Amino acid sequence: MELLEGILKRRSIRKYTGQPVDKDVVDELLKAGMYAPSACNKRPWHFVVIRDQKIFDEIIAIHPHARMLKGADCAILVCADEIQAHDKGYWPVDCGAATQNILLAALAKGLGACWIGIYPRAERLAGVKRLLNLPEHIHAYSLISLGYPAETPAQPDRYDASKVHYEKW
Ligand SMILES: Cc1cc2nc3c(=O)[nH]c(=O)nc-3n(C[C@H](O)[C@H](O)[C@H](O)COP(=O)(O)O)c2cc1C
Repeated sequence: MELLEGILKRRSIRKYTGQPVDKDVVDELLKAGMYAPSACNKRPWHFVVIRDQKIFDEIIAIHPHARMLKGADCAILVCADEIQAHDKGYWPVDCGAATQNILLAALAKGLGACWIGIYPRAERLAGVKRLLNLPEHIHAYSLISLGYPAETPAQPDRYDASKVHYEKW
């Protein structure tokens, strides 16, 4: 799939067929995440691959918008190492770029994926840190649910000329 076509086609997919996602495919998604741009090229990310339905249930219990994990085969938690990151304030930006790379790579591999937000909600950050034993300096940023898609949302029309400004506002 051509890159620009993929960017426009990507949708949040929350229903999955149950077909397993091979480890090789997950590895390709992780690689895509690691190729994201990051401030001063610090690449402060870590990834936790989760397939255990028991852990999914625990996340659903603390996260009000994560029910799609019920049918997911796999999920990738994108985390940040605050020590490795560039100055204060940059790791959420870096992890956002990594998250989007993984979403686009998932589409390219025929998968459906959804960004489940953790940062910046303090209770979700603390809950996921506790559940997954993250060290003190590691912060959960986003969780990406993954599976083969069982829904095909229509492509919306989002181009909005009123959001574009030339030279000055
Ligand atoms: C920071 C962020 C947090 C999000 N958190 C959730 C979430 O917790 N649960 C969910 O179902 N979708 C979540 N989404 C997905 C958005 O709902 C989705 O991207 C938006 O509705 C646009 O739809 P699209 O992804 O199909 O273009 C999140 C997206 C972003 C960027």
